[in-house]
Amino acid sequence: METVTAVREMKARCRAWRRQGLSVGLVPTMGFLHRGHGSLVERSVLENSRTAVSVFVNPAQFGPGEDLEAYPRDPARDAEYLRSLGVNILFLPEPSEMYPPGFATFVEAPSLGLRLCGASRPGHFRGVCTVVMKLFHIAVPDRAYFGLKDAQQFFILRRMARDLDLDVSLVPCPTVREVDGLALSSRNSYLTPEERAAAPLLRRALLEAEGYLAAGGRDAGEACSLLRGILASDPRFSLDYAEAVRTEDLSPVGTVGGETLIAAAARLGRARLIDNVIFDPDPPGRGRPRRGEGGAPR
Ligand code: PAF
Repeated sequence: METVTAVREMKARCRAWRRQGLSVGLVPTMGFLHRGHGSLVERSVLENSRTAVSVFVNPAQFGPGEDLEAYPRDPARDAEYLRSLGVNILFLPEPSEMYPPGFATFVEAPSLGLRLCGASRPGHFRGVCTVVMKLFHIAVPDRAYFGLKDAQQFFILRRMARDLDLDVSLVPCPTVREVDGLALSSRNSYLTPEERAAAPLLRRALLEAEGYLAAGGRDAGEACSLLRGILASDPRFSLDYAEAVRTEDLSPVGTVGGETLIAAAARLGRARLIDNVIFDPDPPGRGRPRRGEGGAPR
């Protein structure tokens, strides 16, 4: 595995792969890697001839007063882990390489970025869209891999890729969890041992909402109030939001009728935990054709 820090060199390497007819997978990350990132990398290595991973704590997606300085970093350990997974290039740019003096152009996030995490983190998704667009131009990947713990981020980037006719497939990958259900996140390192023991309550609350829907309940408000009730049982949690939205456009759902994202964010000590479930009352492949899928007998 090579480590590349310069945009110019990264572009040259990735374009050389493309010229040789090799497929390229990109896994964008902010480092302090865990098995969740590892699962994205493993999938990219399986599906592409070459895999590049970026490790870049992107200042543009942190608001004033957020944890940019404190964000955990361990590039040496990350490099070791990525080498063991068979990655070809680690792209490790400095902020001044990605945002040189005079940098002034940003990708505006679609309106999907105003709700959920976007409501309490204004500008966050603009920063995400900007850096991901830059990474796509630098690495020219065929496929890019994102974890569904950050489901809103995935749906926003998918919208961006469709709207701007990008030639890259965005591959959503399942959330990887600890045995007690807590979604893996670099920010879990902020939790004290007591908070860490309490943290799976967020997952349990989401599963309660999902259980209500799986049992036939269709009132999204009721699903979210079940979730809120469970989180309220531990006063250390401070709820940011609990919402049910359509996955297609992240618009609010009253009665659950199609693929629905139930997403929640809560503060626990220094950490802001996010997690979600995606529920579809009529999943594809269940026999009934979905809108736009035809369905004529063969
Ligand atoms: O999900 C993340 O780690 C970041 O938001 C991403 C996609 C690497 C952009 O900085």
